[in-house]
Amino acid sequence: MCGIIGYIGDKNPVDVLIKGLKNLEYRGYDSAGIALKNEEEIQIIKSVGKISDLEEKIKNTNIISSHMGIAHTRWATHGKPNEINAHPHKVGKITLVHNGIIENAEELKRELQEKGIVFQSDTDTEVAAALIHFYYQGNMKEAIEKASKVLKGSYALGIICDDESDTLYAIRKESPLIIGVGENEHFITSDIGAILNETKKYVLLGKDEVVVLKKDEFHVYQGENEIHREILESSASEEEISKHGYEHYMMKEMMEEPVLINQMIEKYQNHMESLPDIKKYKTIHIVGCGSAYYAGMIGKNFFEEEGIKVEVEIASEYRYRNVIYDENTLVILISQSGETADTIAAMRKANENHQDTLAIVNVESSTIARECTYQVLIEANKEIAVATTKAYLLQVFVLSLLSMRGKQDEKYLEDLHQLPQQLKVLLDKTGYYKRIADQLCNQEHVFFIGRKNDYAMSLEGSLKLKEISYIHSEAYPAGELKHGTISLIEEGTIVFAIVTDDTIQDKTISNLEEVISRGAKPIYIGCNASSYEEQFIVPKVHSRLQPILVVPALQMIAYFTAQKRGCNIDQPKNLAKSVTVE
Ligand code: G6P
Repeated sequence: MCGIIGYIGDKNPVDVLIKGLKNLEYRGYDSAGIALKNEEEIQIIKSVGKISDLEEKIKNTNIISSHMGIAHTRWATHGKPNEINAHPHKVGKITLVHNGIIENAEELKRELQEKGIVFQSDTDTEVAAALIHFYYQGNMKEAIEKASKVLKGSYALGIICDDESDTLYAIRKESPLIIGVGENEHFITSDIGAILNETKKYVLLGKDEVVVLKKDEFHVYQGENEIHREILESSASEEEISKHGYEHYMMKEMMEEPVLINQMIEKYQNHMESLPDIKKYKTIHIVGCGSAYYAGMIGKNFFEEEGIKVEVEIASEYRYRNVIYDENTLVILISQSGETADTIAAMRKANENHQDTLAIVNVESSTIARECTYQVLIEANKEIAVATTKAYLLQVFVLSLLSMRGKQDEKYLEDLHQLPQQLKVLLDKTGYYKRIADQLCNQEHVFFIGRKNDYAMSLEGSLKLKEISYIHSEAYPAGELKHGTISLIEEGTIVFAIVTDDTIQDKTISNLEEVISRGAKPIYIGCNASSYEEQFIVPKVHSRLQPILVVPALQMIAYFTAQKRGCNIDQPKNLAKSVTVE
């Protein structure tokens, strides 16, 4: 959560930092701030709301001329989103921005208060600033290192000192942070996307590393020792992070799905053996959060059909459970960002227990990609809309490919060839999605039912709807609804039934009838025509590919419903794309 950017160089830092913040806005967007520094003074400007609000405020402020600064976009964890709690925070000579959580902030705050330090905000970040201020006796690097030995939790900090107008400092502990390397200029940022229009060169940082950044040089330290870090080059283009003429990133990202699926088909259809062999494991654990977890539920059904024992679990539970590992267990971590705090913790638990780990991630340089035994990249390119669409779909697709490795299945290969085109046609049926959105937009509660993978898809469709349209929605295994939840069904309540699995189709239909007889209005999504008035028929394909031709329709329905309700589609309230706190 939260996005950090820092700049030192010849350009106007305000331009660089604001542009960067706009690219980081997906990480949090309830307040933002900027600090600029020159030889004489430091100027801090903060604002509640979006980056555009901060930009407006800056336009109406007399800005100092400077060549370095730090900036932040916030997703509140400690304290309300107001100006006082917005970053940067300044204590004494220390001004800083922070991403992550200081877990012992309360305790440290009390100790520092006893030493006479007065706090203005409710944030854990101000405690980090106060601690560095407390240790600062003219040597910033030393003060940061001392503070880092005391601070507990996950964090990345970008720091400025009143005494220095040519040096910017940073430290990374768990939370993502990289250095951007330009011509006579340097950057720090939580995500390379924030600086791609300035430079493609970057340096990855390890845990507990302190960075000293000047205009024309940078140094990375692990404790006392300076370490060499290679300069890498990103292949991501600026174009990838623009909207391509769509009104929202979410629509652009859904429209990319056929091309991305096609790329994966071209890459793997004749090279399935280049994927890790999951069938050599007796047990598989699949772990993720949010949509990644729901993708994992589909993977569970795929792998179980191959005779493998599979458990799928939410990372925030897995990390604290007494997990029993078989002697031959593979732990699959699914994460778009590769930086989700709970998924990282689950991965580390598996690694510490000497289990093989497999990352299914989008970001190659991410922590999960780097620390797992094996990696399969979903190659979704940058995903900016907070609600995941294309990344989820590619996660499911990779799970499908993994389950099919080593099998000769003509039907699967045949269906693969049709898939991108069929998906394109499905996405183009916007008239249908808009009609459903018209019916949904005034509903208070919506339900989705299905069995097996139809249930897993229901969960994702329901999540998509509630996260971007704010309509309360729940997904249920079709057979379970009558054990309580059916009491919520009223005259006109919309119930989606996902019915693509012929083996249990009749059972789901019976459950749908049960809710219809209690007043529900059914929306049937299936492969076979039905007698329901509102029905959406998707092409029948190999069962391991079927979700690819169902979930995008649910994504579209959520999109148009949110649009109809005037919601902020790309940045729904209270959410963040990359949840880097526990
Ligand atoms: C957040 C996002 C979800 C995503 C989840 C896991 O909650 O809003 O869309 O599914 O995090 O993120 P990851 O990057 O680990 O896939």
